[in-house]
Amino acid sequence: MIKKVIFSLNNKMVQVEADEQTPLLYILRNDFQLNGPKFGCGLGECGACSVLIDTRVARCCVIPLIAVEGREVQTLEGLGSIESPSFVQKAFIDEQASQCGYCTNGMIITTTAFLNKCAVKPSKEQIKEALRANLCRCGTHIEIIKAVEAAAENLFSDASNLLEEGN
Ligand code: FES
Ligand code: FES
Repeated sequence: MIKKVIFSLNNKMVQVEADEQTPLLYILRNDFQLNGPKFGCGLGECGACSVLIDTRVARCCVIPLIAVEGREVQTLEGLGSIESPSFVQKAFIDEQASQCGYCTNGMIITTTAFLNKCAVKPSKEQIKEALRANLCRCGTHIEIIKAVEAAAENLFSDASNLLEEGN
């Protein structure tokens, strides 16, 4: 059924009229030209299409448009820009943590959600566990883990500097 759906997209309210069962991934890429999320498997299994919905990671190839009515969707583009990348995006650039880049969107979105809920700097094992369900066919895992460790280092050293300044 065609429906007008209103939701927040990268911190702006948007509306789209489409079949309510259209996968959110198609809406983001075709209606909003947000090409950060990629079509990988189309089955919710690889993570390439990941976005944040209300701060939680969601695989939007299997999420119908209607499911985001009134909710907050954030894509890779909403995290930062080329001029001003987020701390996670910057770490992936600094570590050159991609080859074909197809998995990078999912890796960055998942890392962002993961680090945002870590109370302390995660171990390498915790990082590997957090990214376990994101597939990389190029075998870039070593650089990806290094990038996440660098982002975590950055995040938690900034946090401890702020605590020290507050003392
Ligand atoms: S494209 Fe969505 S999980 Fe693979
Ligand atoms: S860099 Fe190619 S799929 Fe991960």
